[in-house]
Amino acid sequence: MTTILVTGAAGFIGSNFVRLLVKRKEPVRLVAFDKLTYAGNLANISDLLGDQVIFVKGDICDTDKVVRTVRDYHVSQIVHFAAESHVDRSILGSGPFVQTNVVGTQVLLDIAKSERIEKFLYVSTDEVYGTLPEDRPDIKFTEETPLQPNSPYSASKAAGDCLVRAYFHTFGLPVLTTRCSNNYGPYHFPEKLIPLFVTNLMENKQVPLYGDGKNIRDWLYVEDHCDAVYTVLQKGRFGEVYNVGGNNEMTNRQITEIILREMNKPWDKFVRYVQDRPGHDRRYAIDASKIKRELGWEPKHRFEQAIKTTIQWYRDNEKWWRDIKSGDYLKYYETQYAHR
Ligand code: NAD
Ligand code: DAU
Repeated sequence: MTTILVTGAAGFIGSNFVRLLVKRKEPVRLVAFDKLTYAGNLANISDLLGDQVIFVKGDICDTDKVVRTVRDYHVSQIVHFAAESHVDRSILGSGPFVQTNVVGTQVLLDIAKSERIEKFLYVSTDEVYGTLPEDRPDIKFTEETPLQPNSPYSASKAAGDCLVRAYFHTFGLPVLTTRCSNNYGPYHFPEKLIPLFVTNLMENKQVPLYGDGKNIRDWLYVEDHCDAVYTVLQKGRFGEVYNVGGNNEMTNRQITEIILREMNKPWDKFVRYVQDRPGHDRRYAIDASKIKRELGWEPKHRFEQAIKTTIQWYRDNEKWWRDIKSGDYLKYYETQYAHR
């Protein structure tokens, strides 16, 4: 049976990926490898652990630990989700982003090469392309769009993209890259827009909308992203990049309105406009025609329904997010929002 090393498997998307493959009874063994940073939470996958899913605590920058894990479990494929993932935190300090997203990716690539890994999939982001004008809905990011990252987070992810590309061209490493738009769904860490706003409203707190609230993102339900990653892993062509998107562009104001309506909270009382994010990208939009044409993937979930499912998940799992929104999280919240 194929054994896949899933880095960052205790985070938001990595845990949903493991959950999806188990739910579908895919014939694979999964080694969930995670450092358990502030964003990693073993509770996200603890109900799945057993013969099919094994957890290993480790840092992707730790060569010995990763090599031992690859050998001990006869890993033949790597799906690399592990990253520092929050733009605002990268503005507060970019060191951990360069360490994990750049050095960590390089360490994994070297191990993939020396251990003769059969497939290496790098989970990247649409943010590597930079920003789009809001008044040109006809323009979207394609796989040919030049990389023009604008935040320390996206710069570190783009460095990873470049390393993956270089290992393909120089060493013939069997690599695949996906670049996805904004995800939402269960297990999303409550520092990101949707889970932050939903949980703040459940606590009867205001939601902080950056700038004029008109920045645009393309939202995709996390299960659709995970399905796309597995599709690329199975059918993608080595050395290729595949954009993944929801064809679902919305301003942050629109998202906020939908959440408020769904949670029965009035705009005037609960929305606080705050100082904008420095270097805030105005618009992301993905052209996902290549993955549809070549691999037959397209999103299955509609936003109107999936956002309701997501909000309900936060209602049903209050302990999960209340445990997170304490301790160190409070310090971060204070630093990020108190003086805006
Ligand atoms: P997340 O922050 O929720 O999870 C990241 C996980 O990686 C955590 O479990 C963390 O403990 C782990 N990790 C961090 N540093 C590590 C290290 N040095 N060694 C081992 N594990 C480490 O992130 P996410 O939102 O699930 O994103 C997963 C991946 O998908 C990232 O690579 C991100 O760039 C990419 N991505 C995210 C989105 C999105 O909307 N969230 C969209 C496109 C792409
Ligand atoms: O596009 C893919 C990217 O999406 C991923 O690569 C990143 O890992 C992921 O974090 C996400 O980045 P964003 O910066 O787009 O997501 P975030 O949820 O932080 O912000 C979404 C939008 O909402 C953005 O325009 C900023 C705005 N925002 C965010 C927060 C946290 C607010 O207005 N207020 C907030 O408090």
